[in-house]
Amino acid sequence: MDLAKHLKSSIDIVKVIGEYVRLRRTGGAGRYMGLCPFHTEKTPSFSVNGTHQYYYCFGCNAKGSVIDFVMQLEGLTFFEAVKALAERFGVALPRRAEYSDEQTKLRAALYQMHELAARIYRSNLNSAAGSDTRDYLARRGLSPATIEEFGLGLSDNSWQTLTRRFEQEGFSREQMEASGLVSLRQDGSGFFDRFRGRLMFPIHDEPGRIIGFGGRAMATGDEPKYLNSQETLLYRKRHVLYNLHRAKASIRKQERVILVEGYMDVIGVAAAGIGEVVAGCGTSLKDTQVRMIHRHCDRVVVNFDPDTAGANAAERSIDILLDEKLNIRILELEEGLDPDEYIQRFGANRYREKADKAAGYFHWLADRARAKHDDGTAQGKWAAFQSVLPAIVKNSDKLEQAAVANDIASYLGVDANLVRDRLRSTGYESRGRAEKRAESNLPPVERILLNLLLADRGVREEIIPEMVALPGREQLQARRLFETICALYTQQGDFTFEDVGARLDDAGKALLTSVIFADEVGGESGSLEQARACLRELRLGCRKTAESALRSKIRAAEKAGDIAEALRLTEELSRLQREVNV
Ligand code: UTP
Ligand code: MN
Repeated sequence: MDLAKHLKSSIDIVKVIGEYVRLRRTGGAGRYMGLCPFHTEKTPSFSVNGTHQYYYCFGCNAKGSVIDFVMQLEGLTFFEAVKALAERFGVALPRRAEYSDEQTKLRAALYQMHELAARIYRSNLNSAAGSDTRDYLARRGLSPATIEEFGLGLSDNSWQTLTRRFEQEGFSREQMEASGLVSLRQDGSGFFDRFRGRLMFPIHDEPGRIIGFGGRAMATGDEPKYLNSQETLLYRKRHVLYNLHRAKASIRKQERVILVEGYMDVIGVAAAGIGEVVAGCGTSLKDTQVRMIHRHCDRVVVNFDPDTAGANAAERSIDILLDEKLNIRILELEEGLDPDEYIQRFGANRYREKADKAAGYFHWLADRARAKHDDGTAQGKWAAFQSVLPAIVKNSDKLEQAAVANDIASYLGVDANLVRDRLRSTGYESRGRAEKRAESNLPPVERILLNLLLADRGVREEIIPEMVALPGREQLQARRLFETICALYTQQGDFTFEDVGARLDDAGKALLTSVIFADEVGGESGSLEQARACLRELRLGCRKTAESALRSKIRAAEKAGDIAEALRLTEELSRLQREVNV
């Protein structure tokens, strides 16, 4: 058996996807639903079928096996996804060339280079040359355990440490260039280390591999203050949140995430015992990052620096968080402190209390709008209200929208009637796009029987021979699916769900998928009885259609005076009735 097939049969898709998406058990056996990680939605349309080891989104039609899921979500090639899954679940990989294409090899080298770099940076920090930086960290309240946990390190000033080491280890020129850890000299004569004399923060992907670094300047006057890895094959900024791999479990448990601005903020908050904290890495928040958060929780506490830059970033973030339908709270700290400084000054408990009590974002937005626009005149107040309006109407619930608008209007001192007119005239209303569901319109008997046939070997053994002999089965709506299943079973004994898919065209595949994700399937027990009942009903249905077809043919023959044909058809009719009754 080939490795991909072997993997799929030895790994549980529900377990793998469950690590990325909050799944809820629904309906029949082995069925789960959650929010789709591939598009924005508020109500779950993403379903995972454990019986068939398959996922399908009714909203955006994303679908596939566990390997497809990992490829799509982590942006991996087929080989990488197979490899990542095999490693995680201890499935032995054959040393076959086909499992290491060029891209996979390059990425494997890049992962190694990042691991090696992190090791070198850590040992620099622990060496004599690292004593100033260690003092600095101690002054900022970081314990040796925290430094260790976050893998902090120090890049030295030699310009050549990483470069030499990579050369010694035999990494190629192409690999060095692609790593982003060393840069090519202008004249192309060689490489030099990108990070020098900086406190180094390793950045991990969601499964926890190092894919980049942030480096804080240690020497005064060294600009920029923070230098981050450039975009590489591994480090795709839009898809990275600092600390997510550590925070994931807490985020799910606490059902919230605290979003802060900087590396030191994350470390300060996490070290204070609040694990559910993440940050972007020096870029403004992107929808892709928000979706990563949304896979794990619905509630975000935004806790940016209170300075102008931080407040502007918070406001932009609110916009994106709203687009992705997250529940937003704003945590504002007094005295212009950032989270890290605040915890140093007032302690973890007070910070936690403030985070727990963080309020909704409307009044925060309104305060900002007031500061910007409200000069005491009616126009100023109106302008302030107008600037908050877009955020208000992003709420897809019309009633809530009106309530919030009224609340904010009175807070800003704007006439409520004006507000009502404005809401009406702009036609702002429910924009919650009804998510279309690819419901199959098969008759329930057919759908249920197909499901049972696909799910249960015992059902196949007993029912398929009966199906093959079923008169009138060409009248079934899903006849092609039934035929494919029967043919596969007859030709090769048993089969998997994927074998069936492989024999169908796109329309057939879509039908198959909609069948296995339909809701009304019975539990594991009593499948055979259920299947027998379905078969009885189908038989009855088929007989009725076949009979009425024959009857109308008989009438037509009689009308045309073709008595011989009418007799032959009548004979056929009674044969059909006899056959079905046995
Ligand atoms: P801050 O300047 O607020 O830094 O930048 P900080 O996190 O409080 O750092 P300390 O406490 O002075 O050590 C916040 C974040 O913005 C990004 C970094 O991700 C940083 O953590 N940033 C900042 C950059 O990418 N480049 C910069 O030059 C500055
Ligand atoms: Mn800070």
